[in-house]
Amino acid sequence: MVVLGCFGCYNNNLVQLPAQRDVIRKSAALTNHMRANAHSGVILCNVDVVFCCLPQDHHQLRHESFTGFYIMAKTFEHVKAAIQSLHKNTTSEEKVNFYNSWAENYDQDVVVLEYRAPSVAANTVSSHFSGDRDAAVVLDVACGTGEVARQMKSHGFGHFVGIDGSEAMLKVARESGLYQELKQCMMGEEPLPAQWDSFDVVVITGALSVGHVPITVVRELCRSTKPGGYVCMTTRSNHDNLDYKADLERELKQMEEEGLWNCIEATEVENWEKAVSNQEDGYISGVVYLYKKRQQ
Ligand SMILES: C[S@@+](CC[C@H](N)C(=O)[O-])C[C@H]1O[C@@H](n2cnc3c(N)ncnc32)[C@H](O)[C@@H]1O
Repeated sequence: MVVLGCFGCYNNNLVQLPAQRDVIRKSAALTNHMRANAHSGVILCNVDVVFCCLPQDHHQLRHESFTGFYIMAKTFEHVKAAIQSLHKNTTSEEKVNFYNSWAENYDQDVVVLEYRAPSVAANTVSSHFSGDRDAAVVLDVACGTGEVARQMKSHGFGHFVGIDGSEAMLKVARESGLYQELKQCMMGEEPLPAQWDSFDVVVITGALSVGHVPITVVRELCRSTKPGGYVCMTTRSNHDNLDYKADLERELKQMEEEGLWNCIEATEVENWEKAVSNQEDGYISGVVYLYKKRQQ
């Protein structure tokens, strides 16, 4: 029997099958192949069983004869410990280094966290956007590994430009093949590398929060959007982010009063993701904001 361990899970010691490790090692070439082709459909030959911590459709595996797909659950406690170490990083350099080291595991860890920001944002944009989705250009700010583009693609959008501070996150995004263009930028320290008035939709998820992207960047998101275009943003509503959230909402309102945009939707969403701080249990809530830039 040939057993294949998903490259990401195997590399991170998630696939721990003492009796079968040799077999898994032997299939390393295949696992590389699988990683290179993740999300684009992989046909496996001579593999009986695949072990991964994600569902089969994550890799879009197809094989006529393989007999089993086993999901190896990475425990929530494992992911929680990793994220708590992120919150200990204070300088932007430390944060980016953290994301550089998290990039390979990010997609599987956010499944464990039941992190919903990218799908909530994509649904929100989709329910208001009435233009030509094929022609629309989406700017995905703090794009990470590409979750927002993946979700928006499922709603018919097809043209994505991504920006992020972490080279390793950008590498995973590049390998996804979803983006026409990807740029590295530390937001708040450097100007956003995006032309003014040029994007139909600008989205930022999972990055407008304490210690990540500063609130001043919100004006740059608005400037990059075409008149009549949408800006979709998310933030967390949990304890350690409440001050940031209040400052963010003050700035969003101030920009509306200045005539820059109109608020279309600001929706509090329960069960945003699992709580990872020691002060909170269960799920935390979050907010999705949708603004429409005014026609000048
Ligand atoms: C939690 S991930 C979110 C990624 C993606 N948007 C998603 O929802 O899956 C946060 C991302 O923001 C990026 N980031 C955080 N602060 C940043 C900053 N100041 N400038 C650029 N990127 C930043 C990190 O590198 C990371 O990829």
